Amino acid sequence: MAARTLVTMALPYANGSLHLGHLVEAVQTDVYVRALRAAGEEVAFICADDTHGTPIEVNAARAGIPPEQFVARFHAEHSANYRAFEVLHDIFYTTHSPENEEHAVRIFRALDADGAVERRPVEQLYCEIDKRFLPDRFVKGECPKCGAKDQYGDACEVCGSTYEPTDLRNPYCALCKEAGRGEVPPVRRTSMHYFVRLSKYQDFLRGWTSAPGHLQPEVKRSIDGWLSEPLKDWDISRDAPYFGFRIPGETEKYFYVWLDAPIGYLSSTDRWCKDRGDNLDRWWGKDADTDIVHFIGKDIVYFHTLFWPAMLHASGWKVPAHVHVHGMLTVDAAKMSKTRGNFFTVDDYLAAGLDPEWLRYYYASNLGPTPSDIDLSLLEMKNRVNGELLNNVGNLANRALSIVWKSFEGKLGKLAASPEELWQISAIERKVAGHYRAIDTRAAVQEVLALGSLANARLQEKQPWKLLKTDRAAAHAELTLAVNVARVCARLLAPVVPRFAKGVEEQTGAPLRSGDSGWLEETQIREPKPLVRRVEDEDLEKLSGKFVGRTADAPSKEPAKGAAPAKESATATAPAPAAGSSEISIDEFGKMDLRAGKVLACERIPKSDKLLKLTIDLGEGAPRTVVSGVAQAYAPEELVGKTVAVVANLPKKPLRGVESHGMVLFATGGKRGLIAVEIGEDVPPGAKVK
Ligand code: 2FM
Ligand code: ZN
Repeated sequence: MAARTLVTMALPYANGSLHLGHLVEAVQTDVYVRALRAAGEEVAFICADDTHGTPIEVNAARAGIPPEQFVARFHAEHSANYRAFEVLHDIFYTTHSPENEEHAVRIFRALDADGAVERRPVEQLYCEIDKRFLPDRFVKGECPKCGAKDQYGDACEVCGSTYEPTDLRNPYCALCKEAGRGEVPPVRRTSMHYFVRLSKYQDFLRGWTSAPGHLQPEVKRSIDGWLSEPLKDWDISRDAPYFGFRIPGETEKYFYVWLDAPIGYLSSTDRWCKDRGDNLDRWWGKDADTDIVHFIGKDIVYFHTLFWPAMLHASGWKVPAHVHVHGMLTVDAAKMSKTRGNFFTVDDYLAAGLDPEWLRYYYASNLGPTPSDIDLSLLEMKNRVNGELLNNVGNLANRALSIVWKSFEGKLGKLAASPEELWQISAIERKVAGHYRAIDTRAAVQEVLALGSLANARLQEKQPWKLLKTDRAAAHAELTLAVNVARVCARLLAPVVPRFAKGVEEQTGAPLRSGDSGWLEETQIREPKPLVRRVEDEDLEKLSGKFVGRTADAPSKEPAKGAAPAKESATATAPAPAAGSSEISIDEFGKMDLRAGKVLACERIPKSDKLLKLTIDLGEGAPRTVVSGVAQAYAPEELVGKTVAVVANLPKKPLRGVESHGMVLFATGGKRGLIAVEIGEDVPPGAKVK
């Protein structure tokens, strides 16, 4: 283990509001940082806004302001959002900084000096009206494989194939289309580009990716696939107009945003060091006694495990000790999207008056060490916060403190615990610390809950409220033990729910400390109050009701970051229509095959508290299996016999080891949170719903 740890989370694009998907990573990273600090380690927590690229430049122009001003707006919003969720970076800087330009140029020069940079002409699509090359998300056309219309230049949403923009049939400029100029065909134009020959670092990368601890096994497996063939050269330049850093010696060429974005980790650390009189080499120098740990989503693994270590290696900086990949967020088992009504920004959450600690608790108690996706069900958040945080640890603290307050004038007694029992508690503390270090917050939370349950069970068994009348000293000792165990639980949960922990600290009247000095005996407590507000149905409705009558404020076709792969993603889409949904054409609607399906059987999927497996007759001869994330809303037997609306033409998809084929429709809202869209009983299975 190194002397210190430098932790980063992915730099959000300064091109839109943060949403609840961003918070998965922010919470996971912040919990890790807090847990290391609680263990007494020196940690730097670094982040910044990712400010460059075509989409930002185009959106700033649309907003009629310079890109510097455009990104500054989002910087202020992002900072406030993180603060509200107690994600406390040591620095939240920007990639549009002098430090970042300096480091980007230096790293580029180091790559060049290493013989890894090559210039060669590239033919791309160019719009003569907009006078710009069109990145893949700015050009549309017919899929070269299946012929589907209006597909982006990188991949077809209908058949799933990937290709180059120049492969599109009948391509047109998406910017022109949006501006009402119709389907203007781009021309092919050649320009000189800079490439990094990544294959030059293939051996280094094989070594780095194989070193113990650098990557999770699941991530390593996919990278092995990429490394089994010569790595493709990486195009690191873009032509003007562009918002970014000019390549030295060029007037019309810029570094591609993905070159300077990760350098933002280094340059933000540089800035932070300067601000505090520290030394960058102490953190990033080749021989620094630092573990560099990056937290990222699975859509940006390639950049962080191949490009980035190669850049650091070539330029003589320290390479990461660990790149930690988390899964993507779904909401009610579906991808977040404005059209579905399950897309929530951080501001939406805050404006609905929901407590940030609820979501911190929910995410942390769901996130394990693997890159599996995480699902947000507001109903489940309510159940877990109320049933676990409040009823377990919160209740333990509140029950014991209230009796001490009333019956012992707020003074604790002696601890009713043997040295052996205290030792067992210390063993649990060490276990929890190990889980946090292994980025397994789910296991850490479970361990704390198990301790809380034991203490609650003991309280229930000893009944100090009754014992008071017969053996006051014993009752006092039991209550004192319960208060102390609640303090241990709160301290162990502090990385996840810092305000809750602070509340326990304040009410018990002394700092939450580890070791012998943490035990309180014969000290004064303060008046107990509820530690966290209970989640009510109305809270959930306030948030999910956000969509009713709201005007969508950002492009709806753009998949939410954290929900789908983000390339140099354009937010260049049609202006969003009113009422929070996008318009689709009749043709688009016609692509959906909606059928009446009769639920023949339904059961829970083992080890999942969200998923149900439904056997549905769609009039096809053999019934289908469809997995639905509605176990929180429906008991399996409640769905059997219903005739429901089913989207029948979705591809098969494995979910928790079950192959799901289709999707059952549910309306959101009501007491259950979700209501099956039912079709009259006399409609035969398989009937088309139009
Ligand atoms: O995918 C994204 O949202 C990027 N803005 C992440 C950048 S992380 C780092 F490389 F800067
Ligand atoms: Zn155009």
